Amino acid sequence: MYWLGIDVGTGGTRALLLDENGNVAAGCTEAHAEMQMQKPLWAEQDPDDWWRATQAAIRGVLREAQVDGASIKGIGFSGQMHGLVMLDAAGTVIRPSLIWCDQRSQSQVDWIHSRIGRERVIQLTANPSITGFTLPKLLWVRDNDPASYDRLHTVLLPKDYVRFKLSGELAQDVSDASGTGVFDVANRNWSRPMLEELGLNPSWFPPVFESSQLCGRITTEAAVATGLHPGTPMVAGAGDQAASAVGNGIVETGIASCTLGTSGVVFAHMDAPAYDPGGRVHTFCHAVPGKWHVMGVTQGAGLSLQWFRNTLAPGESYDSLMTQAAEANLGSNGLFWLPYLMGERTPHLDAAARGGWIGITARHQRRDLIRSIIEGVSFSQKDCLDIIVEIGVELIRVRASGGGAKSLFWRQILADVFARRVSTVASQEGSAYGAGLLAMVGTGGFSSVTEACSACVKDTTMIDPRPRESVSYSRQHEIYRTLYPTLKATFRLL
Ligand code: XUL
Repeated sequence: MYWLGIDVGTGGTRALLLDENGNVAAGCTEAHAEMQMQKPLWAEQDPDDWWRATQAAIRGVLREAQVDGASIKGIGFSGQMHGLVMLDAAGTVIRPSLIWCDQRSQSQVDWIHSRIGRERVIQLTANPSITGFTLPKLLWVRDNDPASYDRLHTVLLPKDYVRFKLSGELAQDVSDASGTGVFDVANRNWSRPMLEELGLNPSWFPPVFESSQLCGRITTEAAVATGLHPGTPMVAGAGDQAASAVGNGIVETGIASCTLGTSGVVFAHMDAPAYDPGGRVHTFCHAVPGKWHVMGVTQGAGLSLQWFRNTLAPGESYDSLMTQAAEANLGSNGLFWLPYLMGERTPHLDAAARGGWIGITARHQRRDLIRSIIEGVSFSQKDCLDIIVEIGVELIRVRASGGGAKSLFWRQILADVFARRVSTVASQEGSAYGAGLLAMVGTGGFSSVTEACSACVKDTTMIDPRPRESVSYSRQHEIYRTLYPTLKATFRLL
């Protein structure tokens, strides 16, 4: 028997097969088309491209493992969060999705706050409205593309569109719904007052489920398209961050995760919802029923290094960039990188923030440029961690995952900057693995998410912070923290 985890990411969709012990049997990723960035701050993808990639990834993983669709006992989902998928009454996609990193909706955020009051938005949803969330994106469409808005029948998030194509069911899980900005996170349901006071039709928003609850089955049509068996059950799944937390065992207090993908996220479990009055970190429902989580997000984490590689080092491998960075001195000889390539969420909540190097001199070399990017992203992740600690969440150690965490060099910098032990777990599959575990929980493979994690998620490498380096990085971080406030007004002029 096998279980399937499907992660609808930004760069591609991954299908991962787990056996009954939670071991990875096979995985297959199908890349997405490049995201469209027609204007600064815009980022769009085509939901039907996610569906195409999902079909290819499922077929690919079944082929690779030589497994018949009939041996799949259950399916779980993970997905890039916050993306706006608009369907008409026939279930057809109305327009390209404004995805998580799209930052065009500042005037809609201002409108929401002026209409409802920022404090009250936090009371109703546990978070202020921000340009990253789904709601202001929907209102941008209302204000700028009324023809699309007039046809609106259903609002979905990315993975839920894929679920809809596989099962015909409109459904939403509580963790991903938390990132829409219209969800009552404390009570785990849509916020009626938000919907009513903003003039949004509650019927646009699908029924919500806990992440490991069953909420659909593979249709005959989807079975033909994917090689899966008709009637295979699926669970609601989770937003990629909550799913990755399950995959990394962040389902109890004390351990946080740091996931360095395109974005960088520091994530911690909470037994009760606590929130930052400044709204600098997000308080969302966890994929563990009746639990919550808090997370801080660096918009341009892996993206910073990817940008460097694509524009300044085409054809070079990330390994080679890491080797060069390791040859530079700690602190990159006084060079700082601001990772605000797509504005910033934590701690600035500022779509207008811009990235760049500060402190460059004629003696700086290429290796300093690269190292400063790794350090700047790590400082930004430390900003996230500090706020989580500030709101009273206990954090003893950190589990690192995502593309960036594959590098031992970067993990050591994280341990030094965080001044905490940084470990990795055996499965580096993060979100897709968490999605698979949620499927196992929903279909009887395990009795709870916590049980699944303690059976399947084990620490492998552990790196301790080096005391001297930690002290140096703490000084560097102080300098880094002065840069944004100094430049904030200038960013607005750019
Ligand atoms: C989380 C977030 C990103 C996206 C893309 O709030 O925006 O992690 O989910 O992966």
